[in-house]
Amino acid sequence: MRLDKAVALTGLTRSEARKAIAAGRVQVDGRPVRDGSMQVDPGQVRVDGVQAVDAGEVYIMLHKPAGVVTATEDRRLPTVVDLLPPAMRRRGLGPVGRLDRDVTGLVLLTTDGQLAHRLISPRWKAEKLYRARCEGRLTEVEVEAFARGVMLSDFTSLPARLTLLEAGDDGSTADVALTEGKFHQVKRMFAAVGHPLIALERLRIGPLALDPALGPGQWRHLTGDEVSALREQCRL
Ligand code: URA
Repeated sequence: MRLDKAVALTGLTRSEARKAIAAGRVQVDGRPVRDGSMQVDPGQVRVDGVQAVDAGEVYIMLHKPAGVVTATEDRRLPTVVDLLPPAMRRRGLGPVGRLDRDVTGLVLLTTDGQLAHRLISPRWKAEKLYRARCEGRLTEVEVEAFARGVMLSDFTSLPARLTLLEAGDDGSTADVALTEGKFHQVKRMFAAVGHPLIALERLRIGPLALDPALGPGQWRHLTGDEVSALREQCRL
């Protein structure tokens, strides 16, 4: 197959494919190639480091920075998908669950709809771990309140594990682990016990931990072991 045709398999138009080739963004067998008429094996073609031909499901972890929305498109604001290279954006990846715009940390994006569905369903009990910075001094009173379940205006949260890391009059830091993921849930739980949140970062979804090597805005593919651990968590 001609190289320009193979590049277009990523979802680029023919003219975008030609531009990507001319810009040196296309590699064949690991080497940049600028001749669109070259005959290639599509399986060997990469655009912006991403394999051109669909090689099965895609799983990505992203370190979400503040100011970015967890959506595939938004008219006003940058989305988590905008942080991926163009060829990757066309793979039909969707975020698993949501983080608020001001919340940072681990976002999983995948084409695997069944896994995504199970990870957000309370039935499969995938625990999410967050690091929270809140106002005021947290004590064992709040640890116990979280363990009992916090009463909110429309529901009482399931028991959550609060681990104090640092507590002072000018603010406290704690890890909170919970299996639910209702709208603004962690913020609402802290506000309900009298300690409004200052910052929130997600560190883990089930067995998948945010890679500390990823800075805000950076992403990487999951390893085979990470995908297996997630699928096992969801009995897939
Ligand atoms: N809880 C929140 O309040 N916000 C999030 O983004 C995630 C959990």
